[in-house]
Amino acid sequence: MSSAYSVRQRVLSGMRPTGKLHIGNLVGALLNWVQIQKEYDSYFFIADWHAITTDYADTRSIQKNTLEVMLDYLAAGLDPKQAVLFLQSHVPEHAELHLLLSQVVPLGWLERVPTYKEQRDNLRDKDLSTYGFLGYPVLQAADILMYKADFVPVGEDQLAHLELTREICRRFNGFYGPIFPEPRPKLTESPRLPGTDGRKMSKSFGNAIFISDSEAEVRQKVSMMITDPARKRRSDPGNPDVCPVFAFHKIFSPDSTIEMVDRECRRAGIGCVEDKKLMADNLIQALAPIQERRRAYEKKPGEVWEMLEEGSGKARRTAQETMEEVRSAMHLPESCPPSPQPPAEPVQSSGRTDSAE
Ligand code: TRP
Repeated sequence: MSSAYSVRQRVLSGMRPTGKLHIGNLVGALLNWVQIQKEYDSYFFIADWHAITTDYADTRSIQKNTLEVMLDYLAAGLDPKQAVLFLQSHVPEHAELHLLLSQVVPLGWLERVPTYKEQRDNLRDKDLSTYGFLGYPVLQAADILMYKADFVPVGEDQLAHLELTREICRRFNGFYGPIFPEPRPKLTESPRLPGTDGRKMSKSFGNAIFISDSEAEVRQKVSMMITDPARKRRSDPGNPDVCPVFAFHKIFSPDSTIEMVDRECRRAGIGCVEDKKLMADNLIQALAPIQERRRAYEKKPGEVWEMLEEGSGKARRTAQETMEEVRSAMHLPESCPPSPQPPAEPVQSSGRTDSAE
């Protein structure tokens, strides 16, 4: 490898395997990661242990979802030759670092994380008053610090977690010495893609278009999208600035179409039905190469698992190096500590002759 490799800054990010990824994940994260892997020493992983913090009562879908997420990663263009793609639970060092970090994290820091109370109260069907869920951000800190990442590409929703990682980093370094660099967030500039109902796109809202949705599904979902609510009749002029379909145009359509729709919608020159059809065409076209790659990988799940295993092996070597430093900084006994000198025994008439050993 060229020497440039070693001076590249390191980036790490991951997603929880809670199901197939949607096009909000694609434009908000994955397509950025695909660019990042070309410029940075990149680690992208699947956070299956994080999925358990909320889904512990039924863990049966984690394995299947892990494969789905890996397929979406590869389909989007993440490349195991350019980035280390790995599975959290196959790098058990994450658990060890999580345990060690947890010793220095004050409870108050965790209780203050905004997502903690929010999620605990919002996900009513799950009992999230657990030790594991409270520790979610500590596990995330372990993921990040393990690889001494310089940058973590995340959305705004993860900023509080990243700030906590930085605090944990400083506190750990304060006790045990400068082991970890402070990771910085790398906010993505991509515009936010709303869901089909105008709210944030989210699987749990039922307003998501998935990367792997068929053409028919995409067309059906787009046809049901809300538009400017003030535009009730075809003859009413519309306001593209508040229309989710226009937000999609801005991402998936060519400039000429965006300009035309912007102009014609405002003077009722184009109707919502026609507008949606135009947008669906462009969205389907943009997804085509991604879906083609996905289908190719779907045919060989064994190879996909192997890629994840190989990446996990690479990640693990880095993780093991870090853990050696951590254990040594914390004065944890090495595997074969020097044996302590036996106290000088008072000489007694035991008849033993081997006491000088
Ligand atoms: N909490 C992140 C999310 O829900 C997933 C995640 C776990 C993560 N560990 C991470 C993201 C480390 C970035 C870095 O999206």
